[in-house]
Amino acid sequence: MGSLKGKTYLVVGGSHGIGAGVVDRLLTAGAGVTVVSRGPLDRESSDQLTHLTLDVTSDCLDKSQLPDQLDGYVYCPGSINLGPLRQLTRETLLADYHLNVVSAVECLQAAQPALRASGNASVVFFSTVAVAQGMTMHASVSAVKGALEGLTRSLAAELAPKIRVNCVAPGLTATPLSERFLSSEQKVAMMAEKHPLKRVGRIDDIAAMVEFLVGDGSTWMTGQVLGVDGGMSSVRG
Ligand SMILES: NC(=O)c1ccc[n+]([C@@H]2O[C@H](COP(=O)([O-])OP(=O)(O)OC[C@H]3O[C@@H](n4cnc5c(N)ncnc54)[C@H](OP(=O)(O)O)[C@@H]3O)[C@@H](O)[C@H]2O)c1
Repeated sequence: MGSLKGKTYLVVGGSHGIGAGVVDRLLTAGAGVTVVSRGPLDRESSDQLTHLTLDVTSDCLDKSQLPDQLDGYVYCPGSINLGPLRQLTRETLLADYHLNVVSAVECLQAAQPALRASGNASVVFFSTVAVAQGMTMHASVSAVKGALEGLTRSLAAELAPKIRVNCVAPGLTATPLSERFLSSEQKVAMMAEKHPLKRVGRIDDIAAMVEFLVGDGSTWMTGQVLGVDGGMSSVRG
């Protein structure tokens, strides 16, 4: 894998969960990172690390806040609103679409000039295993993440060859977002048992794939949706 040292990245949603795991890996590799989140960052800003406090659903990221050149953009905010069809509201659907898709596009629009300046930049979006595998109660999240998969392929075509666009589709991964599904040892064991690889995801399982996608080892990959899901999307255990 090529070195990330000296490269610069934008991680929207890099304060906790998978995004924080991505930031850890980028900083360790010697890259510069701009992190966007609503809440505080539990690490000090430095020459290598800049934090912008922003709710991307109500305020657009301004390109003047970003470095002149970006080698990658990772969009992490997402939602897991589960429930039966009869309880699915227009408000939930629209809010999920806004957070997962609209804001991902608007942040990319702000970052586009800096990504173009790199000449070899990489964008990573997040889908979910619940797009490839139909799951009960997942109507809203699967619909909006499915939109993101379509967006990945469309933008991969439009932005090639200077900007690559790929998508990671995690299975259940232990983060603040999924806390309620993994809040006891019993729940963790039950969820682990459902996976062919008999455990739930760890943040670093997903962050490692993102590090690969934003680095030089994947420069001939674009328009791909990569399942990192313990085999859940494609293997019958
Ligand atoms: N965890 C899973 O089991 C799982 C499974 C499948 C797919 N995914 C997808 O993977 C991605 C990452 O998931 P995760 O579990 O790491 O999520 P998470 O724990 O909720 O972390 C989300 C990050 O985004 C930031 N964020 C959320 N809303 C924001 C907003 N409106 N404006 C700016 N920043 C915002 C959060 O910081 P603040 O709260 O401080 O803003 C945080 O840094 C998501 O797209 C999710 O849908 C996760």
